[in-house]
Amino acid sequence: MNEIETHLQEALIQAQQALAAVTSSAEIEECHIRFLGRKGQITALLKSMGAVPAAERPQVGRTANRVKQEIDVAFAAARAALDRQDRVVVQALDVTLPGRRRHSGFLHPVARVMDDAVAIFRRLGFVVADGPDLETVHHNFDALNTPPEHPSRDVKDTFYLADGRCLRTQTSPVQIRVMERQPPPVRIICPGRCYRRDTPDATHSMNFHQIEGLYVDRQVSLADLKGVLGEFAREIMGPDVKIRFRPHFFPFTEPSIEYDFSCIMCGGKGCGVCKHSGWLEISGAGMVDPAVFTAVGYDPETWTGYAFGMGIERIAMIRHAINDIRLLYENDVRFLAQF
Ligand code: PHE
Repeated sequence: MNEIETHLQEALIQAQQALAAVTSSAEIEECHIRFLGRKGQITALLKSMGAVPAAERPQVGRTANRVKQEIDVAFAAARAALDRQDRVVVQALDVTLPGRRRHSGFLHPVARVMDDAVAIFRRLGFVVADGPDLETVHHNFDALNTPPEHPSRDVKDTFYLADGRCLRTQTSPVQIRVMERQPPPVRIICPGRCYRRDTPDATHSMNFHQIEGLYVDRQVSLADLKGVLGEFAREIMGPDVKIRFRPHFFPFTEPSIEYDFSCIMCGGKGCGVCKHSGWLEISGAGMVDPAVFTAVGYDPETWTGYAFGMGIERIAMIRHAINDIRLLYENDVRFLAQF
């Protein structure tokens, strides 16, 4: 065997061993350069074949061809092995696993009740009116016939600013704002935030929402109020909900009432949610006091009206059986995502 043939054979074995150990296509590429590149081991041997005596040349040529073929086979095998490995890695990815969930946004339960309430009253012919959160004492109390000594004006109950204004304690001042700027008839609702200096507990929050309603026309009666609130109750709570009025007092309505919805949990039979009374207190209402009409320049002899307010959180809590108003304001997504 010619010396070149021996070297070729050795180079082939080296190449086969190197290729058997590769773990990446970069390493295959390195082998290629090392053995078959322009200055590669095998390339160099093939070049030196010119020096082989003519008699031995056919024999050496055959060996060279065989080595080249085998080395091609070794490269192909190395590539195929790597390819298989890649595919195993791909298969390790379990495509039957459930995909990653993308959380879509949703409305806060308070916002939903508010939107629903606004939609219901709009269908009943009410128009949305707006007023500022920072109110004058005139709009929040005086024009609403609230006497100077009324406890709700106390600094312990109301947030006052240094300039004498206050954070509105109710949405009722919007009644005054609307009547001050337009003649009767009026049929408005006013959804919005209210602020009271309450100590937060399960049923009190310093910041909450109300929706106010005001209807002014000729010959409006308490029966009209009951009709509208009953319709609202059935729309927001379900077709079987009943409504009842209880006498109460507000400075700006006469007579004043508080109204209850029959308990949606027990259907009025009595349960833990309604404290075994069968009824859930919703809020206040009444016939607009003539003193309020006088304060805004409406003739109380001609015009009559009703007004109502209701707490949105209260309705959200009943709707979703939430027993603590603070849960609505802690912004714990695990809680909010349930609704
Ligand atoms: N503003 C009253 C409250 O916050 C509710 C109310 C509104 C009562 C309208 C009568 C008429 O308690």
